[in-house]
Parts: sequence; structure tokens; C-alpha cells
Amino acid sequence: MRQQRLHILRDQLLMGDALEHGDLFSPRFPPADRHVGFLIPREDRRGAIDALNFQQPGGEGFQRGECFQFNLQFAVLRFASLIQSSGAVYARGDAFFKPSKRIPMNKLVPSEIEAYAEAHSMSESSVCRALRDETHRTMEYPQMLVGPLEGAFLKMMTQLVGAKRVLEIGMFTGYSALCFAEALPEDGTVITCEINEKSAAVARRYFAQVPCGNKISIRMGPALDTMRTLTDQFDLIFIDADKTNYLNYYRRSLDLLAPNGVILIDNVLWSGEVLKQPPPDKSTAAIQELNCTVSTDPRVIAVLVTIRDGILVVRRAS
Ligand SMILES: C[S@@+](CC[C@H](N)C(=O)[O-])C[C@H]1O[C@@H](n2cnc3c(N)ncnc32)[C@H](O)[C@@H]1O
Repeated sequence: MRQQRLHILRDQLLMGDALEHGDLFSPRFPPADRHVGFLIPREDRRGAIDALNFQQPGGEGFQRGECFQFNLQFAVLRFASLIQSSGAVYARGDAFFKPSKRIPMNKLVPSEIEAYAEAHSMSESSVCRALRDETHRTMEYPQMLVGPLEGAFLKMMTQLVGAKRVLEIGMFTGYSALCFAEALPEDGTVITCEINEKSAAVARRYFAQVPCGNKISIRMGPALDTMRTLTDQFDLIFIDADKTNYLNYYRRSLDLLAPNGVILIDNVLWSGEVLKQPPPDKSTAAIQELNCTVSTDPRVIAVLVTIRDGILVVRRAS
């Protein structure tokens, strides 16, 4: 298998010379005097990268590095932003296939912009990173988790609002719930709703690994049923579950929202599908209806932020 070498000089990525597979086992590889990254393409060879392993100058052997299912360019730029110096990345020839269709949300923001923004925002905790890594390796739709940049945004919002009580609709493997828990004060709490037992089992394992995991309480079952049982007020409500129920979640959230609270609604750009008329499916139609309802609702003010797949930030009109 031919190997492709990519040279990196800070943020610049230059295609380098192709190597033969045998080069990997020669004494010349890897060069000991600089950072070297090695990209592992996904087994299904649809162009996504499973992992980026790396060796530091003078290091012995590769360390497990970033692990994700983004495309080659994203992975290389991420490597460049991590090392902040010159280096080289090697990849098997089949890493150069087209990006996988399983990453539709990346379309709105170019991956290099996303990587740059991520590299200049607060970094994710080691537990979040490990959870993201496992989710990408083991779950069918890993792109459902918000990821490091939106996770940083959620943490920032939690702290700006001074939230103590967070309600999450749609937990998946618990990435965003952990972000909230990390940002909350000691006596803060997160109630998170999930319907899928397999996802919840992953989340429970990770929540148990860190003290802030104690702040999180999982409510299994349809989120609307759970919301009907709640009577407390919440400072921050994050809606990120089935799209066809978004309007119902929004309505119930307004009942549960503290006077100065904030509702965050994820995926409101739906990979750009919201621009289509007529809407191609029920989820798109539901998100369009939600966006129209919120933006014309005199009880609230809102801003649609174009982070990742779009986040609607809503608070009561004063
Ligand atoms: C986009 S994922 C949530 C991602 C999560 N917020 C994160 O960033 O890690 C949506 C989740 O909502 C769950 N879900 C879908 N319909 C639901 C319902 N009616 N009630 C509760 N959870 C639901 C799905 O099982 C899925 O795990």
C-alpha cells in the first residue's frame, strides 16, 4: 500500500511525496527529530479517519492520539494545531477517499474553521475526550454528540447564566451532560432525559468516573413524559432529542424555565435543510415550525447562533 506524506508548517498543509509501505519499517521512519502523526483510516474505507497517533521528537513509538471520524483534512489540521510547529503526517493511501456520509453536520462550517475555533476555545476535559473517543468507536451515530466546540459553548453559557439547575432533553452517551456538570457549581444538578438504554449504559460508566458525575440524574423514558412530572424551575434547558417533538419540548420548557433562565435548542439549521421549501421530511418541517414559532413568540427573544448545526438561544422578553 502506498503511503502519502503530508508536511505541516504551522497551519499550512503541503502535500508531500508518496512513500512505499516498506518505508514505514525502515530506519528512516519515523524521523526522530520532529513530530510525526500517523492517520488511521476507518476500516470501511469511506474516507473518515479513525485515529491520529503521533510521536514526539525523540519519542519511542506512537502514542494514541486524537480519535474521530472526521475527514483527512480535519484530522491533519487538528494535528497541526496541536503541535504548533513543523511536522509530518503519514497516512495509508486509502485515507484519501471521500469523506463519509455519516458526518452531515460538518457541512455548514468548513472543517478547518471548526478545527481553528476549537483550538482557540477552552479545551475539553480528559473524561469528555475519552467518552467522545469511545462513542466514535462503538456507537452507530457518534456525530450526535455536540463535540468539543459546542461543548465549550454550553459550558460558557452555563457559567454566564450562573446556572444551578440544568435540564437536558436528549442525553445520548452523556457528552453534553458532562459538559454541564463540569461547568456547574458544587451544588448544581443536571436532569437528563434519554430513551435508549444502550446509550445510557455508556453514559453511566463515564459519569461514575468523575466526582462531577454525581450532579447528573438520568431519567429514562420519553422526554415529554419526564417533563410532565417535573415541577422545579431550571436555569438552563438544552433541547437535543427527536426533532418532531421540538415544539412540544419548547412549550413545556417555557413552563419550567426560571425567570432569568435560558433555553438552548440544538440542530436548528439541520445541515441547511431548513432552507428547503417544501420541507423534505417531518424533522425539517418540525424545525422550520419551531424556528418560526420562537422568532415570532412575543414572550421570548432569541438568537440563532451558527455554531456547528445551529443553536437557538432563547430567553424571556423582559
Ligand atoms: C442528538 S442525541 C443527544 C446528544 C447529546 N446531547 C450530546 O451532545 O451528547 C439525541 C438523543 O435523544 C434521544 N431521544 C430521542 N427521542 C427521545 C425521546 N422521545 N425521549 C428521550 N430521549 C430521546 C436519542 O436516543 C438520542 O440519544
